[in-house]
Amino acid sequence: MSLVEKTLRKLQESGRAPSDPSASSAPRQTARPEGESFRSPQAHAHGPMVPIERGALRAAGLLAPQEDLQVLVRQYRKIKHPLIARAIGRGAPRLEKGYLIMIASAMAGEGKTFTAVNLALSMALEKDLRVLLVDADVAKPQLSHVLGRGDAPGLLDALRDPAMDVESLICPTDLPTLSFLPAGTGSEEATELLASAHMEQLAAQLGKNDGQRVVVFDSPPLLQTTESATLSHVAGQIVVVVRADFTPQPVLLDALKMLEGHPDVSLVLNQSMRTITSPYYYYGYGADRAAPPGGG
Ligand SMILES: Nc1ncnc2c1ncn2[C@@H]1O[C@H](COP(=O)(O)OP(=O)(O)O)[C@@H](O)[C@H]1O
Ligand SMILES: [Mg+2]
Repeated sequence: MSLVEKTLRKLQESGRAPSDPSASSAPRQTARPEGESFRSPQAHAHGPMVPIERGALRAAGLLAPQEDLQVLVRQYRKIKHPLIARAIGRGAPRLEKGYLIMIASAMAGEGKTFTAVNLALSMALEKDLRVLLVDADVAKPQLSHVLGRGDAPGLLDALRDPAMDVESLICPTDLPTLSFLPAGTGSEEATELLASAHMEQLAAQLGKNDGQRVVVFDSPPLLQTTESATLSHVAGQIVVVVRADFTPQPVLLDALKMLEGHPDVSLVLNQSMRTITSPYYYYGYGADRAAPPGGG
């Protein structure tokens, strides 16, 4: 079992323990703002418990095979630290809305869902950080299906009914620092709902009551849907996933044009060991494999 698997298991086991840290002898985290005690997402999440089944995630191609995990763990560590820094102001100025992180890409099949899952899991290993993974790919809610919440109320339902408390739809997971908001039900007016002004309020609400919460949005492709453009206005940080040897350069440039003016756009080169440089932030990551897996 790899180190990351062991750590995830430990977290899952500790998730069954009482979440009140005062009941344990664990040392208090110093990075936390004074006066704020650490609460697990369970303190906020009211939906049914969602187990993070590594087998199901792996079978869906959303978790790297065992032999590639160590490489990915190192690469995700590099990716997450600057994002966390800007999200909660740890070692860097805190960005306005920096806790709302959108995982985007020009086209489908570039690795948005893979990146959202692996980044969220990697972030969930951080102390004094709570991670909310949101399935905002309402047209193709793969994540909700894989996590067994395909028919559950979620983001769309909260958008449809502004009186609804979105926190009541958030599902705790068996990782004490990770929670999940499914895409929700009904899809006819999904585009309009995601593009509504209420989306902005809802996103802000997701982080308002909890200064240690980072929200990771899995999203639809920028060039193939209109709702992702709206989401990009809501997010404080955008990570554009670029699949190596897959995305034609003009297509990527078109997608980046849509994000012009956004203060914080990073690029992740997926499924390649190369790291490239540009005016944007680039991170190379991916498994060192002879043949990359097929696109979705
Ligand atoms: N870094 C990676 N290593 C291994 N497989 C990956 C990686 N990134 C994506 N994949 C695979 O590529 C396919 C498309 O990824 P996915 O995250 O579903 O793309 P998107 O959400 O952008 O449509 C999936 O089969 C996934 O398993
Ligand atoms: Mg996807």
